[in-house]
Amino acid sequence: MSYPFAARVREIEPFLAMEVMERAFELERAGTPVIHLEIGEPDFSPPQPAIDACHAALDAGQTRYTDSRGVRELREAIAAEHTRRSGVAVPPERVIVTNGTSPGMLLVFSLLVGPGDEVIVPTPHYPCYPNFVRYCGGTPVLTRTEASDGYRIDPDAVRSALTPRTRCIVVGSPANPTGAVQDAATLRALAELGLPLVSDEIYDGLVYGDARVTSALTVSEDAFVLDGFSKRYAMTGFRLGYVIGPADAMRPLQVMQQNLFISPNHFVQRAGIAALRHGAPAVAAMREAFDRRRRRIVEGLRELGFGVPVLPDGAFYVFADARAFGADSRKLAFDLLERTHVAVTPGVDFGEAGEGFLRFCYARPDAEIETALERLRGALRRR
Ligand SMILES: Cc1ncc(COP(=O)(O)O)c(C=O)c1O
Repeated sequence: MSYPFAARVREIEPFLAMEVMERAFELERAGTPVIHLEIGEPDFSPPQPAIDACHAALDAGQTRYTDSRGVRELREAIAAEHTRRSGVAVPPERVIVTNGTSPGMLLVFSLLVGPGDEVIVPTPHYPCYPNFVRYCGGTPVLTRTEASDGYRIDPDAVRSALTPRTRCIVVGSPANPTGAVQDAATLRALAELGLPLVSDEIYDGLVYGDARVTSALTVSEDAFVLDGFSKRYAMTGFRLGYVIGPADAMRPLQVMQQNLFISPNHFVQRAGIAALRHGAPAVAAMREAFDRRRRRIVEGLRELGFGVPVLPDGAFYVFADARAFGADSRKLAFDLLERTHVAVTPGVDFGEAGEGFLRFCYARPDAEIETALERLRGALRRR
């Protein structure tokens, strides 16, 4: 095309986990099966009541637009669930349902960030956070967290990165890619810095051992919680998420939703209601399997020579130091895909702080994890 594209498009970098997956799909189309440890997607089916509710909703003709904020029943169910999990009373008026957590992120960053603004993003980070910030004309300010410190966010480091242009602080806990869970004292100290927390709690419920998630709502009334059904309920393809925000933010979020997305899908919202009401046993079974796989894959990766100093507490990823096998994580990941047909995500997807690492998603069947470890054993050569 002979016309220029808008400059903001150049501000967005490719999502490498998706790029690896798309190359893996090409291999599969050509007849080579791939073990998918790259993408953050549970191998479990969604809770059966959610599937049944979706079918029933389609049969009942629930195929039209809804209130832009989502149907009242779902907002009530989300508010009740968050109240139960966090202990903070959340009214349904502070919930807006979105077509996945990612559109929720777009709404919140669009609300808070404009040209010239800055956003604190602890790193290694979920790849899309800085892209959303740049898309809105802002600058992500990356503050490093370290494996040796369990990837704890240091509130003092965040404080020294603040400027008059800082608009919000992003927290992902449990985190992608590190699995780190931030403790209540850290969240409280971050909230005391006096800026809104944008708290991605999509992996809440997927924590192991003694780890407990602190919702940002317990430490701040000005927090924005981003959450959704993709991970906890294994409903990635349903595209269902939500934002819980401060009361005065809800109207502008609603107006943006009306214009940008109109409303979330009605029959998918019905599935969400059923997942919240009846999905707990499915979530518990999944968590138990993930806990077992987490231990196994960490043990296997350590045997192969990867650095995994601490067992990750939450989510379903291991962020493994792969520098024994190569400094360039992108090259290493694509090379492993071509040679072993095991797909993993390059650490550099999660920022420069992740270079030299690989992210392994263990939300895959036990047998696949064993085969993947076996293939890696045959292919990896220490430098
Ligand atoms: C931390 C984090 N937030 C958000 C998302 C996107 O979630 P959704 O499928 O609800 O858009 C992901 C997906 O990998 C994630 O890891």
